[in-house]
Amino acid sequence: MHSYIHTTQISNVLVIGCGGAGLRAAIEVKLAGLDVQILGKRPKTDSHTVLAAGGINAAFGNVDHEDSWKHHFVDTFMEGYGLGDPAQIEIMAKESPYLVKEIDAWGANFSKLKNGKLDQRFFGAHTYRRTCYSGDFTGLSILNTLLKKAESLKIPINDEQYVSELLIRDEVCFGAMSFNIFSSERTIHLADAVILCTGGHTRIWRKSSSRRNENTGDGYYLGLKAGCELIDMEMVQFHPSGMVSPEEIAGTLVTEAVRGEGGKLFNNMGERFMVKYDKARLELSTRDKIAMANYTEISQGRGTKNGGVYLDISHKDKEFILRKIPSIYRQFLESQMLDISKEPMEVAPTAHYSMGGLLISPDDHASSIQGLFAAGEVAGGLHGANRLGGNSLAEILVFGKRAGIASVKYSTQINKQIRSRKSVKKAHENINQLIKNGKELAIPLQYKLRNTMWEFCGVLKDEKLLLEGLEKVRDMKSQLKDVDVRIDSHNCSDLIHVFDLNASLITAEATIISALQRKESRGAHQRSDYPNTNTGEDVNYIVKLDGPTNNMKISKVTIKPLRKDLEAMVRDSSIGKSSEISIKNKLLE
Ligand code: FUM
Repeated sequence: MHSYIHTTQISNVLVIGCGGAGLRAAIEVKLAGLDVQILGKRPKTDSHTVLAAGGINAAFGNVDHEDSWKHHFVDTFMEGYGLGDPAQIEIMAKESPYLVKEIDAWGANFSKLKNGKLDQRFFGAHTYRRTCYSGDFTGLSILNTLLKKAESLKIPINDEQYVSELLIRDEVCFGAMSFNIFSSERTIHLADAVILCTGGHTRIWRKSSSRRNENTGDGYYLGLKAGCELIDMEMVQFHPSGMVSPEEIAGTLVTEAVRGEGGKLFNNMGERFMVKYDKARLELSTRDKIAMANYTEISQGRGTKNGGVYLDISHKDKEFILRKIPSIYRQFLESQMLDISKEPMEVAPTAHYSMGGLLISPDDHASSIQGLFAAGEVAGGLHGANRLGGNSLAEILVFGKRAGIASVKYSTQINKQIRSRKSVKKAHENINQLIKNGKELAIPLQYKLRNTMWEFCGVLKDEKLLLEGLEKVRDMKSQLKDVDVRIDSHNCSDLIHVFDLNASLITAEATIISALQRKESRGAHQRSDYPNTNTGEDVNYIVKLDGPTNNMKISKVTIKPLRKDLEAMVRDSSIGKSSEISIKNKLLE
């Protein structure tokens, strides 16, 4: 079907993605009096934001009074193994308290202390209790609150649109092409500014905390194709605790709040094995360390029959469990008929969060393409080599708002609006050329890709595995040309799957070539052939598509020394690295 038919919609700012970052950005645009619309490919009430369950970080010091933005900065920077962008970290640590208070006042209704202040729980590797929460459904309460706010501001959200391409002319973004996920009807969205809030790419691993059609790498693909760069793509966070059974939902998140509230890890010999891996912090160590510990116990034969380790909170009474982690209680009862107040859970690492992403400038989250901004998981650089739990919800609010403000500034300052018939025609052609009969199907190739990433680019990697994985991904890229795509006016799922697959393959390739380049182990990037951290390797890897050939190019950028005052903070023993002591005290309680 060679259509060039579309309807046209115009707004000042177009937001792509209706999770927390997208909603917070759009709210800011609307509050500034500009026209904004949000597009999404999944139901707006069930975006990936709901899977950041355990909490949101803000250094209020409500429970541990010594806490401050400085401690939050140092914890985030140090536990990102020096790769995170200090400017972004500083902004997040300073601004998240305001954004957390604001969303609570808008109705998120976080847990409170008796004095009315927000309660704060421990999350792994934070020096102090700084994670605010609503039970174990914090992301859901934030999402619902943002949706209500957006509704009250009459912000249009169309969550049945698949965005196939950003519209670019002379390195300026002027909108996007989308098609309806049921009818395939096309729309050209013309806008002064576009904000990408499309999430990450962790669904491309077999075991993932993401659902089937989310986090397939679409935002990275859209950005790369538009001319943007990707940073730190090798840094993929494996959350230590995903469910291991039943097979259909293996990988589903078991929130870190279980460990934050006292859950302990055991192997099949009843050993509390974290003693071997991080004696001071035990189950409140960093995610990279616990994921590697779980992986090691399982791969060395000390795991459970189903390929996990035990996570036990049954020493706490049922009333406590129901109050602090009600969703997890239900999740196990409903899927395994397991009462976690009586028996341990079985858990194993699961792909959870992309720390890499689009290279943006820290203050306004502008990409290298004029008029194109990015916020949330799709943006890279904040977390470095390891993300602290609870920082992603802080990130979406802080930088969603900032990207919104920046897009308003951009929209009100430009003095001409770019359009290009040629780009619109090309966007049609890029859809048209996919609709054809072929010998391959997209879904089996997606499964093959997920298995490949799990096996060849998983928790522990080496050069041989990565090279083999890369070859497989490149083979699949050539098979992509022969995928069968049939659509009619009621069903265009083939078209959606082929776009998802394309984005997944490109982001898989970017991930593997970055992982091959980083010849060391650091944070989430663990290589058995380079088991040590190379302190001479304080660099970020940057991936870009080479214009004429469309081949992927990789380069490295040396990380600049920390600003003097930040460096002094990191060195100050009363701030830097005191987390081990403080957490140990908590564990001894
Ligand atoms: O474990 C969790 O609740 C996840 C939180 C996060 O990724 O920030």
